[in-house]
Amino acid sequence: MTSHAPETSAEFIVLHGLHNSVVLESRAEEAPLWRYWGPRLPDDCLPPAPLRDGRAIPPASMEFDQPLSIAPTFGVSWYGQSALLAHRSGRQFAQRFDDCRIECITAGRSVAVHLTDAVADIRLEVQLSLDEHDVLRLQSQLTNTGSDILDVHWLAAGTVPLPGDAQQVRSYYGQWANEFQLQVDTLSRSLWQRENRRGRTSHDTFPGAVVSLSGATEHAGVVYGAHLAWSGNHCQRIEWLHDGQFQWQMGEWLAPGEVRLEAGETLSSPVMLASCSQSGLNGLAASFHAAVRAALPWPDGCMRPRPVHLNTWEAVYFDHQPDEIKALADAAAEIGVERFVLDDGWFHGRQSDRAALGDWWPDEGKYPDGLLPLAQHVGALGMEFGLWVEPEMVNPDSELFRAHPDWAMQLEGRPLLTMRNQLVLDVARHEVGEHLFARLDALLGSVPIRYLKWDMNRDLTTAGDAQGRPAYRRFVLALYALLDRLRAAHPQVEIESCASGGGRIDFGVLAHTHRVWTSDCNDALSRVAIQRGALQFLPPEIMGAHIGPAPAHTTGRSQSLAFRAGVALPGHLGIEMDVRHLTSEQRESLKQWITLYKSLRDRLHSGRVWCDEVGDGVVWQAHGDEAANELIVFVYRLTPTTHRYTPPLRLPMLDEAREYNIERLDPTPGDWTSSPLNDALRTHEPTQKPVVAHGAWLAQAGLPLPRMNAETALIYRVFAK
Ligand code: GLA
Repeated sequence: MTSHAPETSAEFIVLHGLHNSVVLESRAEEAPLWRYWGPRLPDDCLPPAPLRDGRAIPPASMEFDQPLSIAPTFGVSWYGQSALLAHRSGRQFAQRFDDCRIECITAGRSVAVHLTDAVADIRLEVQLSLDEHDVLRLQSQLTNTGSDILDVHWLAAGTVPLPGDAQQVRSYYGQWANEFQLQVDTLSRSLWQRENRRGRTSHDTFPGAVVSLSGATEHAGVVYGAHLAWSGNHCQRIEWLHDGQFQWQMGEWLAPGEVRLEAGETLSSPVMLASCSQSGLNGLAASFHAAVRAALPWPDGCMRPRPVHLNTWEAVYFDHQPDEIKALADAAAEIGVERFVLDDGWFHGRQSDRAALGDWWPDEGKYPDGLLPLAQHVGALGMEFGLWVEPEMVNPDSELFRAHPDWAMQLEGRPLLTMRNQLVLDVARHEVGEHLFARLDALLGSVPIRYLKWDMNRDLTTAGDAQGRPAYRRFVLALYALLDRLRAAHPQVEIESCASGGGRIDFGVLAHTHRVWTSDCNDALSRVAIQRGALQFLPPEIMGAHIGPAPAHTTGRSQSLAFRAGVALPGHLGIEMDVRHLTSEQRESLKQWITLYKSLRDRLHSGRVWCDEVGDGVVWQAHGDEAANELIVFVYRLTPTTHRYTPPLRLPMLDEAREYNIERLDPTPGDWTSSPLNDALRTHEPTQKPVVAHGAWLAQAGLPLPRMNAETALIYRVFAK
């Protein structure tokens, strides 16, 4: 992995994935210099000359050349964004690593770079690893080797280079019920920066972005992506450098005074995951999906088929009447639901969102015999029982707060500010963590609960601990520890990360949980954009996707059942409505959709996902194996047509040398104009000859699509002959 450059003291560190390579130039007396990160290089391909002292010094420049390193630092001839900003009581504000030791962890795959600054008395370890899915993981650990306190203002998890012809950065903004909205910015010499200071991952700023080079599309061209695996404050920056390239950093956003390292103490950054694809946005998504899949902590080590949920929230809200809930469970089981999740409203004193968070035992009025009878009823119907909790929170109007008002994060002299009437517990405080574990452990031990919907319905502010120090970072670490402790004690329990919908979705929490509640918005039209945004980073099987009622509770808009189901189907399917009140016809069609989901979920939830647009308001997503031997294709018309005829559906991932059978799978007829071809695709009569098309035709010319009404879905199965 390391080889000497001709006639210098430098070595090159080379890491190879399947389609990506990394090349660093390393010397004993400085941090390794970035030479390359991008599409795979041949094994023996090294730079022709070293970069150190290889460039003429430009006019009006320092006489010491400082190219981009893996850990650029402020104050000694580096003028770009630093990977570290720190000081000791206002002194030692400059750092420069003067000793570098490379530790090979796995040949050609991963290294730990040990850097020392003997003047600033610090040590930095940067770990870099590139896996077989081309995911580059970077993590930094800073140790204070001095004798006095080191104040750390910023520590990048990683610093990576981007080529100078990088053009656009695609990131995600949002709010409650409208997560993962795409924002496209043009890169320039201005700093591109996004920060989140809300204390949870946030709806506003997803900690990840994609950078595309000229000509990159969904299926082709070079794109780079990165993500910070962290559920708290974060910052991402892309900065133009004077050699024409860009540097990209991600890290935790630290509150003033938040990290003050004592002598010998170490700060570990979250992990930054980055990847480059030559097959456009969809190729990049495949690498990130693989990274999430590798980290998910499934009970018994592997994912079971994702069970169909019924979540009670939009069916009953806080109005829990056990007999009614049992009747809801009966109706759910009857249509094929496999996991019944009792949402908010079940615990002591919880009549509304104004009180009771913290009092995690069944409400005596609603459930005089506890939750066991309901859980047993659900179990007898053949369904798993799941439960909603929001452990990190407390309402001022609760037994817990009355007993321990000091357990809520607060700052002396500042008001106790609430959001949804609630405060945040200082989970990192020992007695708080112990209390929460004991409560949840007791619940899980006394009722057969196989699933927790773990909610978190507010941002952090005035987030001080008992000493008045910022507690944002320790809060996230304590959450991860609590989740792990509960999972260790109850290994069969799966956990969903929910935070007012999708306010805590990131690879950090997904190393401790199994599903995310993508959004509180069950409006299928809104959901298309939300889910497509999320799919850039998240595999479909962990994205909770529910068929909601019409009209949708969050938007007031109504869509057909076929569209609502067609949009929810590719994710982890659930139902979020009162299925007792369906007409028999509606119940029958919902049943058919659930049956279809069950027959497809192994294929929807294992391989690749490709997304693209047909044009004229029609978008599609296809799920299939790597070689696209079999695809399930979802086509959604979002807006009314502006054309007389719908443009064709081109599937560029198909093998142009093969022939494919095509079928339509959507079980309930839609309300659009039919076409002879599409009618033939729907007929599953044994006498009906299958419709066959050439891969080259489908890839280049495309499958003709019928005229579709706005807010309708078509589902095709395309499989090689
Ligand atoms: C949050 C969640 C919802 C629901 C409610 C219950 O808003 O996102 O799905 O669980 O809390 O209060």
